[in-house]
Amino acid sequence: MYGNKILIVDDEKQYLEVIKGILEQEGYQNVITESNPLNVMPFLQREEVDIILLDIYMPQMNGLDLLEQIYAQFPTIPVIVVTAVNEVEIALKAIKLGAYEFITKPPDTERLFLTIKRALGTKLLLTERDSLRKALTEKEPERKIFSDIITDSPLMFKVFELVEIFAPTNETVLISGETGTGKDLIARKIHDLSPRRNGPFVAVNLASISPTLFESELFGHKKGTFTGAGEDKIGYFEAANGGTIFLDEIGELPLELQGKLLRTIQYNEISRIGDPKPIKLDIRIISATNRDLLEAVKNKEFRADLYYRLNRGFIHLPPLRKRGDDVLILADYFLEIGNKTYDRNIQGFSEQVIHDLRTYDFPGNIRELENIILNAVAKASNSLYIESIDIPRITKEEEVRAIETGKLTTLEEAMEEHIMYVMNRMGNSVQKAAPVLGISERTLQRRLKKIRDKRRQE
Ligand SMILES: Nc1ncnc2c1ncn2[C@@H]1O[C@H](COP(=O)(O)OP(=O)(O)OP(=O)(O)O)[C@@H](O)[C@H]1O
Ligand SMILES: [Mg+2]
Repeated sequence: MYGNKILIVDDEKQYLEVIKGILEQEGYQNVITESNPLNVMPFLQREEVDIILLDIYMPQMNGLDLLEQIYAQFPTIPVIVVTAVNEVEIALKAIKLGAYEFITKPPDTERLFLTIKRALGTKLLLTERDSLRKALTEKEPERKIFSDIITDSPLMFKVFELVEIFAPTNETVLISGETGTGKDLIARKIHDLSPRRNGPFVAVNLASISPTLFESELFGHKKGTFTGAGEDKIGYFEAANGGTIFLDEIGELPLELQGKLLRTIQYNEISRIGDPKPIKLDIRIISATNRDLLEAVKNKEFRADLYYRLNRGFIHLPPLRKRGDDVLILADYFLEIGNKTYDRNIQGFSEQVIHDLRTYDFPGNIRELENIILNAVAKASNSLYIESIDIPRITKEEEVRAIETGKLTTLEEAMEEHIMYVMNRMGNSVQKAAPVLGISERTLQRRLKKIRDKRRQE
Protein backbone atom coordinates (compact mmCIF):
# COMPACT_ATOMS: atom_id res chain seq x y z
CA MET A 1 0.00 0.00 0.00
CA TYR A 2 1.32 3.41 -0.88
CA GLY A 3 -0.08 6.45 0.89
CA ASN A 4 1.13 8.96 -1.66
CA LYS A 5 -1.46 11.34 -3.01
CA ILE A 6 -1.65 11.25 -6.80
CA LEU A 7 -3.64 13.83 -8.75
CA ILE A 8 -4.68 12.98 -12.32
CA VAL A 9 -5.81 15.84 -14.52
CA ASP A 10 -7.55 15.01 -17.81
CA ASP A 11 -10.71 16.20 -19.55
CA GLU A 12 -11.75 12.63 -20.45
CA LYS A 13 -13.67 11.28 -17.47
CA GLN A 14 -13.54 7.72 -18.75
CA TYR A 15 -9.76 7.80 -19.01
CA LEU A 16 -9.53 9.20 -15.49
CA GLU A 17 -11.45 6.22 -14.13
CA VAL A 18 -9.33 3.72 -16.02
CA ILE A 19 -6.01 5.14 -14.79
CA LYS A 20 -7.31 5.54 -11.27
CA GLY A 21 -8.31 1.87 -11.33
CA ILE A 22 -4.92 0.76 -12.62
CA LEU A 23 -3.09 2.77 -9.96
CA GLU A 24 -5.35 1.49 -7.20
CA GLN A 25 -4.69 -2.06 -8.29
CA GLU A 26 -1.00 -1.33 -8.02
CA GLY A 27 -1.58 -0.25 -4.42
CA TYR A 28 -1.93 3.54 -4.69
CA GLN A 29 -4.96 4.15 -2.49
CA ASN A 30 -4.96 7.91 -2.59
CA VAL A 31 -5.74 8.81 -6.20
CA ILE A 32 -7.72 11.97 -6.92
CA THR A 33 -9.07 12.82 -10.37
CA GLU A 34 -9.87 16.22 -11.82
CA SER A 35 -11.47 16.77 -15.22
CA ASN A 36 -11.34 20.56 -15.15
CA PRO A 37 -7.80 22.00 -15.23
CA LEU A 38 -9.09 25.33 -13.95
CA ASN A 39 -9.74 23.69 -10.57
CA VAL A 40 -6.18 22.48 -10.15
CA MET A 41 -4.40 25.57 -8.79
CA PRO A 42 -7.08 26.29 -6.14
CA PHE A 43 -6.95 22.61 -5.18
CA LEU A 44 -3.18 22.69 -4.74
CA GLN A 45 -3.49 25.74 -2.50
CA ARG A 46 -5.76 23.73 -0.21
CA GLU A 47 -4.22 20.29 -0.29
CA GLU A 48 -0.84 18.71 -0.48
CA VAL A 49 -0.22 16.45 -3.45
CA ASP A 50 2.78 14.20 -4.01
CA ILE A 51 2.63 13.82 -7.75
CA ILE A 52 0.54 15.00 -10.71
CA LEU A 53 -0.29 13.24 -13.98
CA LEU A 54 -1.24 15.94 -16.46
CA ASP A 55 -2.92 15.88 -19.88
CA ILE A 56 -1.98 18.53 -22.45
CA TYR A 57 -4.98 19.03 -24.76
CA MET A 58 -7.96 20.05 -22.67
CA PRO A 59 -10.75 22.37 -23.83
CA GLN A 60 -10.69 24.67 -20.79
CA MET A 61 -6.97 25.23 -20.63
CA ASN A 62 -3.75 24.05 -22.22
CA GLY A 63 -1.86 21.64 -19.99
CA LEU A 64 1.43 23.37 -20.70
CA ASP A 65 0.10 26.63 -19.27
CA LEU A 66 -1.09 24.80 -16.20
CA LEU A 67 2.29 23.07 -15.92
CA GLU A 68 3.99 26.45 -15.92
CA GLN A 69 1.77 27.68 -13.09
CA ILE A 70 2.27 24.53 -11.04
CA TYR A 71 6.02 24.65 -11.44
CA ALA A 72 6.17 28.33 -10.49
CA GLN A 73 4.30 27.80 -7.24
CA PHE A 74 5.04 24.19 -6.34
CA PRO A 75 8.37 23.34 -7.92
CA THR A 76 8.92 20.26 -5.79
CA ILE A 77 5.78 18.44 -7.00
CA PRO A 78 6.83 16.19 -9.87
CA VAL A 79 4.50 16.51 -12.85
CA ILE A 80 4.31 13.66 -15.35
CA VAL A 81 2.84 14.82 -18.63
CA VAL A 82 0.65 12.16 -20.26
CA THR A 83 -0.73 12.97 -23.68
CA ALA A 84 -2.12 11.28 -26.76
CA VAL A 85 0.05 13.16 -29.22
CA ASN A 86 3.61 12.10 -29.41
CA GLU A 87 5.11 15.35 -30.53
CA VAL A 88 8.75 15.91 -29.80
CA GLU A 89 8.23 19.64 -29.69
CA ILE A 90 5.54 19.40 -27.02
CA ALA A 91 7.62 16.95 -25.02
CA LEU A 92 10.62 19.28 -25.07
CA LYS A 93 8.47 22.24 -24.12
CA ALA A 94 6.98 20.30 -21.23
CA ILE A 95 10.39 19.26 -19.92
CA LYS A 96 11.62 22.84 -20.26
CA LEU A 97 8.64 24.05 -18.26
CA GLY A 98 9.64 21.71 -15.45
CA ALA A 99 7.82 18.45 -16.26
CA TYR A 100 9.40 15.45 -14.62
CA GLU A 101 8.73 13.13 -17.56
CA PHE A 102 6.70 12.88 -20.74
CA ILE A 103 4.62 9.78 -21.44
CA THR A 104 2.31 9.02 -24.38
CA LYS A 105 -1.28 7.82 -24.06
CA PRO A 106 -2.39 5.18 -23.54
CA PRO A 107 0.45 4.77 -21.08
CA ASP A 108 2.38 1.57 -20.87
CA THR A 109 1.49 0.62 -17.31
CA GLU A 110 4.92 -0.72 -16.36
CA ARG A 111 6.55 2.47 -17.55
CA LEU A 112 3.93 4.55 -15.75
CA PHE A 113 4.49 2.74 -12.44
CA LEU A 114 8.24 3.02 -12.77
CA THR A 115 8.10 6.73 -13.56
CA ILE A 116 5.78 7.38 -10.62
CA LYS A 117 8.04 5.44 -8.29
CA ARG A 118 11.12 7.31 -9.44
CA ALA A 119 9.40 10.67 -9.25
CA LEU A 120 8.12 9.95 -5.76
CA GLY A 121 11.62 8.92 -4.74
CA THR A 122 12.97 12.30 -5.79
CA LYS A 123 10.25 14.10 -3.92
CA LEU A 124 10.84 12.00 -0.83
CA LEU A 125 14.51 12.83 -0.79
CA LEU A 126 13.80 16.51 -1.28
CA THR A 127 11.40 16.71 1.64
CA GLU A 128 13.50 14.41 3.79
CA ARG A 129 16.38 16.81 3.57
CA ASP A 130 14.10 19.78 4.16
CA SER A 131 12.99 18.32 7.45
CA LEU A 132 16.55 17.34 8.27
CA ARG A 133 17.65 20.92 7.99
CA LYS A 134 14.66 22.20 9.87
CA ALA A 135 15.35 19.79 12.71
CA LEU A 136 18.90 21.00 12.67
CA THR A 137 18.07 24.65 13.16
CA GLU A 138 15.38 23.89 15.71
CA LYS A 139 17.56 21.56 17.72
CA GLU A 140 20.43 23.96 18.17
CA PRO A 141 19.09 27.47 18.49
CA GLU A 142 21.97 28.42 20.81
CA ARG A 143 24.33 27.41 18.01
CA LYS A 144 23.44 30.53 16.05
CA ILE A 145 27.03 31.71 16.34
CA PHE A 146 27.99 28.72 14.22
CA SER A 147 25.17 29.09 11.73
CA ASP A 148 27.54 29.64 8.81
CA ILE A 149 29.26 26.34 9.50
CA ILE A 150 26.84 23.80 8.12
CA THR A 151 26.81 20.46 9.91
CA ASP A 152 24.76 17.88 11.76
CA SER A 153 27.69 15.77 12.83
CA PRO A 154 28.43 15.04 16.49
CA LEU A 155 32.14 15.22 15.64
CA MET A 156 31.66 18.80 14.50
CA PHE A 157 29.61 19.69 17.58
CA LYS A 158 32.65 18.63 19.59
CA VAL A 159 34.70 21.02 17.47
CA PHE A 160 32.25 23.83 18.27
CA GLU A 161 32.64 23.11 21.98
CA LEU A 162 36.41 23.41 21.69
CA VAL A 163 36.10 26.65 19.73
CA GLU A 164 33.95 28.07 22.50
CA ILE A 165 36.49 26.98 25.11
CA PHE A 166 39.56 28.35 23.31
CA ALA A 167 38.09 31.51 21.79
CA PRO A 168 38.03 33.72 24.92
CA THR A 169 41.59 32.79 25.90
CA ASN A 170 44.83 34.08 24.47
CA GLU A 171 46.31 30.62 23.94
CA THR A 172 47.74 29.33 20.71
CA VAL A 173 45.51 26.88 18.83
CA LEU A 174 46.67 24.30 16.33
CA ILE A 175 44.05 23.12 13.84
CA SER A 176 44.64 19.92 11.92
CA GLY A 177 42.60 18.38 9.13
CA GLU A 178 42.72 17.31 5.51
CA THR A 179 42.57 19.91 2.78
CA GLY A 180 39.18 21.57 2.41
CA THR A 181 37.81 20.55 5.83
CA GLY A 182 37.30 24.13 6.99
CA LYS A 183 40.49 24.98 8.90
CA ASP A 184 40.35 28.55 7.66
CA LEU A 185 36.71 28.83 8.64
CA ILE A 186 37.39 27.60 12.19
CA ALA A 187 40.42 29.87 12.64
CA ARG A 188 38.30 32.87 11.71
CA LYS A 189 35.52 31.70 14.00
CA ILE A 190 37.93 31.57 16.95
CA HIS A 191 39.02 35.10 16.16
CA ASP A 192 35.44 36.34 15.74
CA LEU A 193 34.42 34.89 19.10
CA SER A 194 37.50 36.20 20.91
CA PRO A 195 37.99 39.56 22.68
CA ARG A 196 40.23 40.43 19.73
CA ARG A 197 37.35 40.32 17.27
CA ASN A 198 37.70 44.03 16.48
CA GLY A 199 41.39 43.70 15.77
CA PRO A 200 42.88 42.41 12.51
CA PHE A 201 42.75 38.78 11.39
CA VAL A 202 45.76 38.15 9.18
CA ALA A 203 45.91 34.83 7.34
CA VAL A 204 49.29 33.78 5.99
CA ASN A 205 49.73 30.70 3.86
CA LEU A 206 53.29 29.63 4.57
CA ALA A 207 53.29 27.19 1.67
CA SER A 208 52.88 30.03 -0.79
CA ILE A 209 55.80 32.21 0.36
CA SER A 210 59.07 31.77 -1.48
CA PRO A 211 61.80 30.52 0.91
CA THR A 212 64.07 33.52 0.33
CA LEU A 213 61.34 35.97 1.31
CA PHE A 214 60.05 34.14 4.37
CA GLU A 215 61.69 36.22 7.04
CA SER A 216 60.99 39.55 5.39
CA GLU A 217 57.35 38.65 4.71
CA LEU A 218 56.74 37.53 8.27
CA PHE A 219 58.83 40.00 10.23
CA GLY A 220 59.45 42.89 7.83
CA HIS A 221 62.73 44.61 6.97
CA LYS A 222 64.50 47.90 7.13
CA LYS A 223 65.11 49.85 3.93
CA GLY A 224 68.30 48.89 2.10
CA THR A 225 69.04 45.75 4.11
CA PHE A 226 69.19 43.57 1.01
CA THR A 227 68.76 43.95 -2.74
CA GLY A 228 65.15 44.76 -3.45
CA ALA A 229 64.51 46.10 0.04
CA GLY A 230 63.74 49.59 -1.29
CA GLU A 231 61.44 50.70 1.49
CA ASP A 232 60.85 49.89 5.11
CA LYS A 233 58.41 47.02 5.16
CA ILE A 234 56.20 45.74 7.92
CA GLY A 235 55.67 42.00 8.02
CA TYR A 236 52.53 39.97 8.61
CA PHE A 237 53.20 39.85 12.34
CA GLU A 238 53.17 43.60 12.74
CA ALA A 239 50.10 43.81 10.51
CA ALA A 240 48.29 41.48 12.89
CA ASN A 241 49.13 43.50 15.98
CA GLY A 242 46.16 43.71 18.32
CA GLY A 243 44.49 40.80 16.58
CA THR A 244 45.13 37.26 15.40
CA ILE A 245 47.67 35.85 12.98
CA PHE A 246 46.69 32.63 11.25
CA LEU A 247 49.69 30.63 10.10
CA ASP A 248 48.34 28.18 7.57
CA GLU A 249 50.41 25.14 6.60
CA ILE A 250 52.72 25.71 9.54
CA GLY A 251 54.56 22.48 8.68
CA GLU A 252 56.17 24.34 5.77
CA LEU A 253 58.05 26.78 7.99
CA PRO A 254 61.82 26.33 7.45
CA LEU A 255 63.78 25.15 10.47
CA GLU A 256 65.78 28.41 10.80
CA LEU A 257 62.61 30.41 11.13
CA GLN A 258 61.06 28.01 13.59
CA GLY A 259 63.50 29.28 16.21
CA LYS A 260 62.60 32.84 15.42
CA LEU A 261 58.89 32.12 15.67
CA LEU A 262 59.46 30.42 19.00
CA ARG A 263 61.17 33.55 20.36
CA THR A 264 58.36 35.70 19.00
CA ILE A 265 55.84 33.65 20.96
CA GLN A 266 57.97 33.57 24.12
CA TYR A 267 58.76 37.28 24.28
CA ASN A 268 55.86 38.70 22.34
CA GLU A 269 58.19 40.69 20.17
CA ILE A 270 59.73 40.65 16.72
CA SER A 271 62.51 42.48 15.01
CA ARG A 272 62.61 43.50 11.39
CA ILE A 273 65.53 42.35 9.27
CA GLY A 274 68.33 44.89 9.59
CA ASP A 275 66.83 46.59 12.60
CA PRO A 276 68.13 45.49 16.02
CA LYS A 277 65.39 47.32 17.88
CA PRO A 278 62.70 44.79 18.90
CA ILE A 279 59.06 45.68 18.48
CA LYS A 280 56.58 44.64 21.17
CA LEU A 281 53.47 42.96 19.83
CA ASP A 282 50.12 41.87 21.18
CA ILE A 283 49.20 38.91 19.02
CA ARG A 284 47.40 35.63 19.19
CA ILE A 285 48.68 32.80 17.04
CA ILE A 286 46.46 30.20 15.43
CA SER A 287 48.12 27.72 13.12
CA ALA A 288 46.93 24.94 10.84
CA THR A 289 48.36 21.92 9.16
CA ASN A 290 47.13 19.19 6.86
CA ARG A 291 50.01 16.89 7.65
CA ASP A 292 50.86 15.03 10.81
CA LEU A 293 53.06 17.53 12.64
CA LEU A 294 53.99 15.08 15.35
CA GLU A 295 55.45 12.86 12.65
CA ALA A 296 57.47 15.85 11.44
CA VAL A 297 58.66 16.38 15.01
CA LYS A 298 59.80 12.75 15.19
CA ASN A 299 61.64 13.19 11.89
CA LYS A 300 63.33 16.31 13.26
CA GLU A 301 61.76 18.48 10.56
CA PHE A 302 59.80 20.43 13.11
CA ARG A 303 61.05 21.66 16.47
CA ALA A 304 59.41 19.90 19.38
CA ASP A 305 59.52 23.01 21.60
CA LEU A 306 57.74 25.06 18.95
CA TYR A 307 55.21 22.29 18.39
CA TYR A 308 54.21 22.35 22.05
CA ARG A 309 54.06 26.14 22.07
CA LEU A 310 51.69 26.22 19.09
CA ASN A 311 49.60 23.39 20.41
CA ARG A 312 48.10 24.80 23.64
CA GLY A 313 44.70 24.17 22.18
CA PHE A 314 44.24 21.47 19.60
CA ILE A 315 41.33 21.03 17.20
CA HIS A 316 41.07 18.25 14.66
CA LEU A 317 38.59 18.66 11.83
CA PRO A 318 37.14 15.34 10.64
CA PRO A 319 37.08 14.67 6.91
CA LEU A 320 33.71 15.06 5.17
CA ARG A 321 33.35 11.30 4.69
CA LYS A 322 33.20 10.90 8.49
CA ARG A 323 30.46 13.48 8.97
CA GLY A 324 27.48 11.29 8.10
CA ASP A 325 24.65 13.13 6.40
CA ASP A 326 26.62 16.37 6.22
CA VAL A 327 27.42 15.68 2.60
CA LEU A 328 23.72 15.99 1.70
CA ILE A 329 23.06 18.96 3.94
CA LEU A 330 26.07 20.74 2.49
CA ALA A 331 25.10 19.76 -1.05
CA ASP A 332 21.75 21.39 -0.42
CA TYR A 333 23.41 24.46 1.01
CA PHE A 334 25.71 24.85 -1.99
CA LEU A 335 22.74 24.20 -4.29
CA GLU A 336 21.03 27.25 -2.80
CA ILE A 337 24.17 29.32 -3.27
CA GLY A 338 24.48 28.05 -6.84
CA ASN A 339 20.86 28.94 -7.60
CA LYS A 340 21.47 32.47 -6.40
CA THR A 341 24.80 32.78 -8.19
CA TYR A 342 23.59 31.46 -11.53
CA ASP A 343 20.01 32.66 -11.24
CA ARG A 344 18.52 29.18 -11.42
CA ASN A 345 15.82 27.36 -9.51
CA ILE A 346 17.02 23.78 -9.21
CA GLN A 347 15.23 21.95 -6.42
CA GLY A 348 17.33 18.93 -5.60
CA PHE A 349 19.24 15.88 -6.71
CA SER A 350 18.30 12.68 -8.50
CA GLU A 351 18.32 9.52 -6.47
CA GLN A 352 21.42 8.33 -8.28
CA VAL A 353 23.27 11.56 -7.46
CA ILE A 354 22.31 11.29 -3.79
CA HIS A 355 23.66 7.76 -3.79
CA ASP A 356 26.88 8.84 -5.50
CA LEU A 357 27.40 11.74 -3.11
CA ARG A 358 26.93 9.39 -0.17
CA THR A 359 29.45 6.87 -1.43
CA TYR A 360 32.17 9.08 -2.91
CA ASP A 361 35.01 9.71 -0.45
CA PHE A 362 35.77 13.40 -1.23
CA PRO A 363 39.55 13.65 -0.88
CA GLY A 364 39.16 17.43 -1.34
CA ASN A 365 36.41 17.50 1.32
CA ILE A 366 34.00 20.43 1.56
CA ARG A 367 35.84 22.54 -0.99
CA GLU A 368 35.60 19.73 -3.52
CA LEU A 369 31.88 19.26 -2.82
CA GLU A 370 31.35 23.00 -3.19
CA ASN A 371 33.09 23.04 -6.58
CA ILE A 372 31.19 20.01 -7.80
CA ILE A 373 27.77 21.36 -6.86
CA LEU A 374 28.36 24.91 -8.12
CA ASN A 375 29.63 23.49 -11.39
CA ALA A 376 26.62 21.22 -11.68
CA VAL A 377 24.15 24.04 -11.01
CA ALA A 378 25.84 26.23 -13.61
CA LYS A 379 25.47 23.71 -16.38
CA ALA A 380 22.60 21.43 -15.35
CA SER A 381 20.34 20.68 -18.30
CA ASN A 382 17.37 19.59 -16.19
CA SER A 383 15.64 22.51 -14.53
CA LEU A 384 14.22 20.55 -11.59
CA TYR A 385 17.13 18.57 -10.23
CA ILE A 386 20.80 17.73 -10.64
CA GLU A 387 21.46 14.51 -12.53
CA SER A 388 24.45 12.18 -12.73
CA ILE A 389 25.69 13.70 -15.97
CA ASP A 390 26.05 17.01 -14.14
CA ILE A 391 28.55 15.58 -11.66
CA PRO A 392 30.81 13.60 -13.99
CA ARG A 393 33.76 13.80 -11.65
CA ILE A 394 32.22 11.50 -9.09
CA THR A 395 29.79 9.34 -11.03
CA LYS A 396 31.31 8.66 -14.35
CA GLU A 397 34.96 8.98 -13.71
CA GLU A 398 35.63 6.00 -15.94
CA GLU A 399 33.47 7.30 -18.70
CA VAL A 400 34.91 10.79 -18.57
CA ARG A 401 38.38 9.34 -18.80
CA ALA A 402 37.21 7.33 -21.79
CA ILE A 403 35.85 10.47 -23.45
CA GLU A 404 39.02 12.41 -22.72
CA THR A 405 41.23 9.71 -24.17
CA GLY A 406 38.85 8.95 -27.04
CA LYS A 407 38.38 5.36 -25.88
CA LEU A 408 34.61 5.21 -26.10
CA THR A 409 32.95 2.63 -28.33
CA THR A 410 32.52 3.90 -31.89
CA LEU A 411 29.31 3.43 -33.86
CA GLU A 412 31.12 0.97 -36.12
CA GLU A 413 32.23 -1.10 -33.13
CA ALA A 414 28.75 -1.06 -31.60
CA MET A 415 27.31 -2.21 -34.91
CA GLU A 416 29.78 -5.08 -35.15
CA GLU A 417 28.99 -6.14 -31.61
CA HIS A 418 25.29 -6.13 -32.30
CA ILE A 419 25.59 -8.09 -35.55
CA MET A 420 27.66 -10.76 -33.84
CA TYR A 421 25.23 -10.89 -30.95
CA VAL A 422 22.20 -11.41 -33.21
CA MET A 423 24.08 -13.98 -35.31
CA ASN A 424 24.90 -15.85 -32.16
CA ARG A 425 21.30 -15.78 -30.95
CA MET A 426 20.06 -16.98 -34.33
CA GLY A 427 22.34 -19.99 -34.37
CA ASN A 428 24.74 -18.30 -36.79
CA SER A 429 22.14 -18.47 -39.53
CA VAL A 430 22.37 -15.57 -41.98
CA GLN A 431 18.83 -16.28 -43.20
CA LYS A 432 17.43 -15.92 -39.67
CA ALA A 433 19.63 -13.05 -38.54
CA ALA A 434 19.14 -10.77 -41.56
CA PRO A 435 15.42 -10.02 -40.99
CA VAL A 436 16.04 -9.46 -37.26
CA LEU A 437 18.72 -6.93 -38.11
CA GLY A 438 16.52 -5.36 -40.76
CA ILE A 439 19.02 -5.75 -43.59
CA SER A 440 19.23 -8.05 -46.63
CA GLU A 441 21.09 -11.35 -46.53
CA ARG A 442 23.58 -9.98 -49.02
CA THR A 443 24.33 -6.91 -46.92
CA LEU A 444 24.73 -9.09 -43.86
CA GLN A 445 27.10 -11.42 -45.73
CA ARG A 446 29.18 -8.42 -46.77
CA ARG A 447 29.32 -7.01 -43.27
CA LEU A 448 30.23 -10.36 -41.77
CA LYS A 449 33.11 -10.72 -44.17
CA LYS A 450 34.37 -7.28 -43.23
CA ILE A 451 34.14 -8.05 -39.53
CA ARG A 452 35.96 -11.36 -39.94
CA ASP A 453 38.71 -9.77 -42.04
CA LYS A 454 39.18 -7.07 -39.46
CA ARG A 455 39.24 -9.46 -36.52
CA ARG A 456 41.76 -11.65 -38.29
CA GLN A 457 44.09 -8.68 -38.59
CA GLU A 458 43.85 -7.75 -34.92
N1 LIG B 1 30.91 23.21 7.49
C1 LIG B 1 30.99 24.07 6.47
N2 LIG B 1 29.88 24.76 6.10
C2 LIG B 1 29.93 25.60 5.06
N3 LIG B 1 31.01 25.85 4.32
C3 LIG B 1 32.14 25.21 4.65
C4 LIG B 1 32.19 24.30 5.74
N4 LIG B 1 33.44 23.81 5.83
C5 LIG B 1 34.14 24.38 4.83
N5 LIG B 1 33.36 25.23 4.11
C6 LIG B 1 33.78 25.98 2.93
O1 LIG B 1 34.63 25.11 2.18
C7 LIG B 1 35.74 25.80 1.65
C8 LIG B 1 37.02 25.23 2.18
O2 LIG B 1 37.17 25.54 3.56
P1 LIG B 1 38.53 26.08 4.19
O3 LIG B 1 39.22 26.98 3.23
O4 LIG B 1 38.24 26.61 5.54
O5 LIG B 1 39.30 24.68 4.26
P2 LIG B 1 40.83 24.43 4.71
O6 LIG B 1 40.79 23.26 5.62
O7 LIG B 1 41.42 25.70 5.21
O8 LIG B 1 41.47 23.98 3.32
P3 LIG B 1 43.06 23.98 2.93
O9 LIG B 1 43.68 22.84 3.69
O10 LIG B 1 43.02 23.70 1.47
O11 LIG B 1 43.59 25.32 3.29
C9 LIG B 1 35.52 27.25 2.00
O12 LIG B 1 34.86 27.88 0.93
C10 LIG B 1 34.63 27.18 3.23
O13 LIG B 1 33.87 28.34 3.40
MG1 LIG C 1 43.01 26.83 4.39
